[in-house]
Amino acid sequence: MKTQIAPVRTSTQRADAIEAAVYLLTGGYPVALPTETVYGLAAWALNPDAVFRIFNAKERPKFDPLIVHLPSVDWLKDLCVIPKDDLDLVQKLTDRFWPGPLTLVLPRNPIVPDVVTAGLDTVAVRISAHPLFKEIIEGFGQPLAAPSANRFGRISPTTAAHVFEELGGRIHLIVDDGPCEIGVESTIVIPCKGVLWVMRDGPVTRRQLWDFAEVKTLPRKKLPQGPGQLKSHYAPRTPLTLLPPDTVPLPAGRGPVGLLAWCSPPLVKGFAHIEILSQTGNYQEAAATLFSKLRILDSMGMNSIVAESVSEEGLGIAIMDRLRKASGNG
Ligand code: TXA
Ligand code: MG
Repeated sequence: MKTQIAPVRTSTQRADAIEAAVYLLTGGYPVALPTETVYGLAAWALNPDAVFRIFNAKERPKFDPLIVHLPSVDWLKDLCVIPKDDLDLVQKLTDRFWPGPLTLVLPRNPIVPDVVTAGLDTVAVRISAHPLFKEIIEGFGQPLAAPSANRFGRISPTTAAHVFEELGGRIHLIVDDGPCEIGVESTIVIPCKGVLWVMRDGPVTRRQLWDFAEVKTLPRKKLPQGPGQLKSHYAPRTPLTLLPPDTVPLPAGRGPVGLLAWCSPPLVKGFAHIEILSQTGNYQEAAATLFSKLRILDSMGMNSIVAESVSEEGLGIAIMDRLRKASGNG
C-alpha cells in the first residue's frame, strides 16, 4: 500500500487533505491525523470493520481498548450512560477541559462496538482541540476511535515523519500539520462517586484536577489490561536507564552511550550523543520534544541511553511516567 503524506500549508492543500481524510474515513479506512497531544490513527468508531483496521495497522492486541474522539459534547449522551451521582462532576470537567487533552472513562452505551472497548463496559472519550482534527471530525460528523499512530509498544509519534516511520505502507494517508503542540498523550481519568481516579498522567495535571474533586491513583491491579499500563510501553529499541533524581550521569558500560539530559550538558565527557529536553528548564518545551528526542537517540546506534530524572511537579509527572515506561519500569 502506498502511504501519502498530505501537507496543509496552503488553503488548497488543507481543503484537499480534509476531503481525502473524510472520504477515507467514510469508506472505513484509518487515517493518521494530528491532535494537540500526539498523532492519532483515526477510524470510524461505530464501524467495527474500520476499527479492526486500526488494530491491524498497529499490530495492537485486541484486549487494549481505544479512545473515542467526539465531534461535539452532544455525542457524550449517545455513547455514555453517566450515573446520576457523577453527572455534575462530568459536566464541570467537560466545561473546563474540552476540547483538550483530558480523556474520561465512563460507562458505555451499547452502540459503541465491543472492538473499541475490548468488551469492557466503559468507553474512553475526549474531544481534541487541534483545529485541523476538529475540522475533519466535524466534516465527517461521527466519532473517531484514535489511538496513538505508532506500532504496538513503540514511542508515540509527534510528527508526520514519525508516523511514516511507524506505519508507512500500512495506511493510505497521513495528514501533516507539523509537530504536535503538547507532545505527550492525554490525561486519562475515571470519575466515580466524587473521586477522580487517574489512569494515565498527562497534560491536564493532578493539581488542575484537584479543583474539581479528590484525585487518586487507580491501583495497577484495577487497571484494564492495556499496554498504556504495561510496564514497558513507549519504549525505544535501545535499552534506556532512568537515573534517580540528582545523580550525575556517567556514560557507563561498553559502546556508545546517549544521554537525554534535562536542562544542561553533563559535567562529564564521554557521551556519544546528547539531547537536552529544555535549556530553560521549561516543562512544556520538555514534553513537546520528549518523544522526538527519544526517537533521535534511538536511531543513532547507541548501546544504551541514559535519561536524567525530571522533578515530579505539574507536567513533570507525565514526563517521568513516560520515561519510566521507556525504561521498562512504568
Ligand atoms: O492523547 C491521546 O490520548 C492520544 C490521542 C491520539 O488522542 N491517544 C492515545 O491513545 O494515547 P492510546 O490508545 O495510545 O492510549 C489509550 C489508553 C490505552 O492505554 C487504553 O488502555 C486506555 O486508554 N483505555 C481506552 N479505553 C479504556 C477503557 N474503557 N477503560 C480503561 N482504559 C481505557
Ligand atoms: Mg499509545
